[in-house]
Amino acid sequence: MAAIQDAGVRIDGKEIAQRVREVVRARVAEISDRVRPGLATVLVGDDAPSAIYVRSKHKACEKAGMLSVGVELPASTSQAALLAQIDELNAREDIHGILVQLPLPDGLDDNEVIERLSPAKDVDGLHPVSQGRLLAGVPGPRPCTPAGVMRLIDEVGVDPTGKRAVVVGRSLLVGKPVGLLLLERHATVTYCHSRTKDLAREVGEADILVAALGKPGAIRGEWIKRGATVIDVGINRTEDGLVGDVDYESAVPRVAHITPVPGGVGPMTIAMLLSNTVDAALASLSA
Ligand code: GUN
Repeated sequence: MAAIQDAGVRIDGKEIAQRVREVVRARVAEISDRVRPGLATVLVGDDAPSAIYVRSKHKACEKAGMLSVGVELPASTSQAALLAQIDELNAREDIHGILVQLPLPDGLDDNEVIERLSPAKDVDGLHPVSQGRLLAGVPGPRPCTPAGVMRLIDEVGVDPTGKRAVVVGRSLLVGKPVGLLLLERHATVTYCHSRTKDLAREVGEADILVAALGKPGAIRGEWIKRGATVIDVGINRTEDGLVGDVDYESAVPRVAHITPVPGGVGPMTIAMLLSNTVDAALASLSA
């Protein structure tokens, strides 16, 4: 396959995430005489991609000088045992952030587990208290991937004010919160999902397009408005390797900016998680 001519439009998420991580490292060093930020990850079951994500979160914590604690539980873990584990982490003074890797194996209730987290330690921004803060527009931890998406849009100098933003996908983790963050920045936001009647037409209206539907190459370049900024949150494993939700090759000639997969949004998620954990550690000092 010929190389894709994407110079000038490709958003380098790896490089931007690296810069965010440098800032996190400097903040960790600056507060080291008062607190060492600590993150606990909880991984239940043996889903290989989840294990890879969790491992990279650990490595990133260590590189930033933070404490990193990994809890691994078998898929057979009961809901009660998992909740007891969360209680234990909630009580630990050296842990400021807890991330329960989602989705949990069948039979475990994601929502009940997330609600059990101490809101002060919800560095994933998924607890109902954090979601309520997002909805109310008051400070609080913002979900990591949506926060990363916003950072990428800012980095390329696109101001959402007055622009049409189309979010494809309405998950708790990405679609819903990213739409709220765009609204907070004064975009005119449209949510699309599996029941949307004419996805191509809606996508064609977007100045800012966020694709988070989890279907490889589902959004065709021909649908996209010329000059749009495209943030592709999809990470789909196919025979051709990792691909996004947007058909990159056909999108590139039309867009002003686009994130590649991999190397776009993915690295930002971890960077924002570290940043939220430092915020939680600092907040714990004045709690
Ligand atoms: N699974 C995939 N992405 C995420 C995330 O951002 N947070 C959690 N907890 N689980 C995930």
